[in-house]
Amino acid sequence: MEQYIIKGGNPLVGEVEIGGAKNAALAILAAAIMSDETVMIDNLPDVNDINVLLDAIAGIGAMVHRVDRHTVKINGKGVTSVDIEYDYIKKIRASYYLLGALLGKYKRAEVALPGGCNIGSRPIDQHLKGFRALGADVEIEHGKIIAEAAKLVGKHIYFDVVSVGATINVMMAAAMAEGLTILENVAKEPHVVDVANFLNSMGANIRGAGTDVIRIRGVQKLHRTEYSVIPDQIEAGTFMFAAAATQGDVTVMNVIPKHLEATTAKLLEIGCEVEEFDDAVRVVSKGGLKCTHVKTLPYPGFPTDMQPQIGVTLALCEGTSIITESIFENRFKYLDELARMGANVKIEGNSATIEGVEKFSGARVSAPDLRAGAALCIAGLAAEGITIVDDIVYIQRGYERFEEKLRSLGAVIEKVSTEKEIRKFMLKVS
Ligand code: UD1
Repeated sequence: MEQYIIKGGNPLVGEVEIGGAKNAALAILAAAIMSDETVMIDNLPDVNDINVLLDAIAGIGAMVHRVDRHTVKINGKGVTSVDIEYDYIKKIRASYYLLGALLGKYKRAEVALPGGCNIGSRPIDQHLKGFRALGADVEIEHGKIIAEAAKLVGKHIYFDVVSVGATINVMMAAAMAEGLTILENVAKEPHVVDVANFLNSMGANIRGAGTDVIRIRGVQKLHRTEYSVIPDQIEAGTFMFAAAATQGDVTVMNVIPKHLEATTAKLLEIGCEVEEFDDAVRVVSKGGLKCTHVKTLPYPGFPTDMQPQIGVTLALCEGTSIITESIFENRFKYLDELARMGANVKIEGNSATIEGVEKFSGARVSAPDLRAGAALCIAGLAAEGITIVDDIVYIQRGYERFEEKLRSLGAVIEKVSTEKEIRKFMLKVS
């Protein structure tokens, strides 16, 4: 089992290149099978989640040609099966985007039902409500969702909750339905817009992505395209909070500053300096950071995927901060780990009260999930002494060359898998 071992105390300084958005790429790869022509997708992050989804896509017969680490060509002509096995869904929930893609194109899809996950129970009722509204019969049998329609017909659909996944999944199916679909109360995240732009570049007719209402005029066929995925706002924000927590000076490159506004606003509130350029953002922290309150909300609110990273930073800010997690019920597990490093935290229901401390002290901690794992690495970088982060397989799902990027900013971090490697690291840094 691989771990990160970190010697904390170095401020992070320098420039770091941000990769393509994992969550946009997952949906775009699934949507790519909707064309029978070759689609080329660039700026893919080279992370485990993406590689698993590409296996799932190849597994149903589509041509998948990895041009290089960040570029893939997909052709959906050879798809012979519309059945996605539990193995894929278990490894990566977002395989459920193949439901919308297959149903839209072939009017039939069978996808294993995803269960809950480490951050909480994850219902998909809104996805299914959308498919049913478009005319599909949707049954759950033997752990599978089976969706089928003689034809899909556009409808006016009002989502009960704002869901990224449901918005994208239903948008994909509606892209190849007959007539006009109007989706209301949709998610406005940048990756929803990116998926709509991708589908439009294949000939779909989708308007309004990024607002509360999306209008989709169905088309019969989607054609070839070449598309570059947007930068990952969560990866960018992770490095921005790493700069804040380590009293560093980091410029995140290749980003869309507009997508980072909620993060930037909080960094300014706690006393960091933030400078925006056309495609970069610089964060400078000179210490003496102050507490604040934060509530996670759908975009353009503060992202739940940045909650652990801000939580770690607030635990080092002077005063009492309150975090309210309003999207997922089980996203404070990292705070128990952080308490082992000296943080002063109290969790009640969906809110956490954090009394800032001057320092963390290094400890052995476990990554409870992807973003929380990254946040614990930030804590280790800010801590006195040595921190070992276990279960980094979660981090590798969504961060490309995480330790290398951190090292390029001056972090002392290594990936290790044996006691011998740990001892070697200790000798090197002592
Ligand atoms: C996506 C992101 C995830 C991020 C989340 C919120 C991907 C692959 N994952 O997850 O990283 O944390 O958005 O920004 O893009 N809900 C329902 N019924 C549904 C669907 C959702 O009640 O049918 C609820 C969820 O339980 C949650 C809220 O809606 O409370 C938002 O979830 P959603 O936006 O769907 O998250 P995901 O798309 O799963």
